[in-house]
Amino acid sequence: MTDHPRNITRHAGAITRGDRERLLGQRGAVVWFTGLSGSGKSTVAHNLEERLAAAGRLTYVLDGDNVRHGLCADLGFGAADRTENIRRVGHVAALLADAGVLVLTSFISPYRADREQVRRIVGADFVEVFVDAPLAVCEARDPKGLYKKARAGQIAEFTGISAPYEAPEKPDLHLRTGDQDLPASVAAVHDLLAARGLFTPSDPQ
Ligand SMILES: Nc1ncnc2c1ncn2[C@@H]1O[C@H](COP(=O)(O)OP(=O)(O)O)[C@@H](O)[C@H]1O
Ligand SMILES: [Mg+2]
Repeated sequence: MTDHPRNITRHAGAITRGDRERLLGQRGAVVWFTGLSGSGKSTVAHNLEERLAAAGRLTYVLDGDNVRHGLCADLGFGAADRTENIRRVGHVAALLADAGVLVLTSFISPYRADREQVRRIVGADFVEVFVDAPLAVCEARDPKGLYKKARAGQIAEFTGISAPYEAPEKPDLHLRTGDQDLPASVAAVHDLLAARGLFTPSDPQ
């Protein structure tokens, strides 16, 4: 699709993503945590954010529960609304990455196609992290009491109980948070970002 039919043309400014990254001394990227409710997405993302902030990195956590208060307040949990939720968040994450920010997202994002769409929106600096704990472990943790409600029939379309979760087939990183403790998970993501060169700005264009 071209921009012309709707008379919308992109305006390129003189300041580039590379300029912003050099200003910040890092590279913009989207670290996309996906997994069941209670698998540990928010916990790992926020702990990683603390570690990165302590090292002087500019980060931003986009968290499912938070965006549903505003940006996605009009959306529910049916399949089409979940897809739209992830599409919007994908674009916001891409904009923040373009600003040079290390974006950490925490969304169940149960559909493989939705995550692949975000990968296309974001481009090269998209890192998919599968936060994997067995359903029984997530349910035993039940940090927000949601599984209890879902089992009692008080929440419809609850992922893992009454709605599907499509596990990543080839995630960039697979964290097994049922077996691995939190510091080890945080370190694994941190090391992957370092190996990808995300702590150094892109080369000058
Ligand atoms: N290895 C681990 N990694 C992450 N969270 C863990 C781990 N072990 C236990 N937990 C606990 O599991 C819960 C995960 O909750 P949360 O991060 O809110 O999940 P999600 O954001 O995926 O819904 C927290 O109460 C956390 O303390
Ligand atoms: Mg969460």
